[in-house]
Amino acid sequence: MKTDITSRADIEKFISIFYERVKPDPNIGFIFTDVVHMDWPHHIPIIVDFWETVLLDNPVYKRNAMEVHYDLHKKIPLKKIHFDSWMRIFVETIDELYEGPIATLAKKRAKSIADLMQFKMNGMKNTNIL
Ligand code: HEM
Repeated sequence: MKTDITSRADIEKFISIFYERVKPDPNIGFIFTDVVHMDWPHHIPIIVDFWETVLLDNPVYKRNAMEVHYDLHKKIPLKKIHFDSWMRIFVETIDELYEGPIATLAKKRAKSIADLMQFKMNGMKNTNIL
């Protein structure tokens, strides 16, 4: 039986599997490998901090994730196709590993943050909001 996300270790697990799937993805992989040369050992703990703050109510993430993506959007315009792939891989990864209220919250938060990013970058017409 699947369990829910309850600890930082649970977040580390889904985040590392998520990015292992993002890297070879034909729509978004190149953004992480060619546009931004991700230093994974540096980035993963920051991203885990973000999700620990969002999901476990432990405010360890002090940065501005929106700003990071606006800067990225200047280098490579982030479009619906990119957000759709990101969301699909995220939901598939969570669903394979976890089940429960926090797992559901993770998917909901990811969707609302992705929608907000898209809206701020591209306006209504390119989002899934309407
Ligand atoms: C089109 C979809 C997305 C792409 C291509 C993308 C790509 C990236 C890249 C390349 C970075 C590293 C940027 C850098 O350090 O220069 C990054 C950082 C990050 N991303 Fe995304 N991202 C996407 C959507 C999202 C969404 C929807 C979330 C959250 C729900 C998210 C959460 C994060 C976080 C927390 C960081 C670390 C920010 C920091 O350095 O403080 N990303 N993303």
